[in-house]
Amino acid sequence: MKLFLAPSILNSDFINLQHEIEMLNGSEADWIHLDIMDGVFVPNITFGQPVVEAIHKVALKPLDVHLMVVNPSRFIEDFYNAGAFNLTVHFEACNNLHRTIEHIKMLGMKAGIAINPHTPVSLLEDMIGEADLILNMTVNPGFGGQQFIEHSYVKVKKLKELIISKNSKALIEVDGGIDLSNAGKLIDAGADIIVAGTSIFKTADPHNTILEFKKLN
Ligand code: DX5
Ligand code: ZN
Repeated sequence: MKLFLAPSILNSDFINLQHEIEMLNGSEADWIHLDIMDGVFVPNITFGQPVVEAIHKVALKPLDVHLMVVNPSRFIEDFYNAGAFNLTVHFEACNNLHRTIEHIKMLGMKAGIAINPHTPVSLLEDMIGEADLILNMTVNPGFGGQQFIEHSYVKVKKLKELIISKNSKALIEVDGGIDLSNAGKLIDAGADIIVAGTSIFKTADPHNTILEFKKLN
């Protein structure tokens, strides 16, 4: 199975965002992970549709948009228009998750469901067949640079078992606190997509760190 790497720009140099995106364009990264936070679902605010739209004009890689907002169904069309390729909503933030996922797919985007560390994998039983990807948070969402939660390996394994048992095609994405020391074990547990922010952008040579991640495949 191909490993997808989606660097998160959350801890990149925002004043030089175009330069950061161009670095990713010229790298082995597969997607660009964009974290949208509303200060309600998570205790932090990042950026919204206009910034995603601006990034889309420069980016040569698909945009992997992770919505950490309450009632994300309000913004599906906006992020589609802004250029999202994958659109992921949180299980915990949706009242009508099935409708929201169908809406995302109907517009032609790939639909993702994210779960927080406290949300059991078993709650995805009835939706796993509908999603293109499941994003398993490996930290509590809200900030870059947090410590990886060790229990995540068990959850990724359970997710893989659920996907196989339901004959689902969903990919497993992991996000938060991931670096070159724990990514291999997550891939062994069943992860298909690695999101990494701090461990790429805070290194001396992010371009080369991306290559190191890709070699884990
Ligand atoms: C956290 C975000 C992550 C974050 C990852 O809420 O969803 O995508 O940017 O950053 P690191 O790799 O620094 O934990
Ligand atoms: Zn994220």
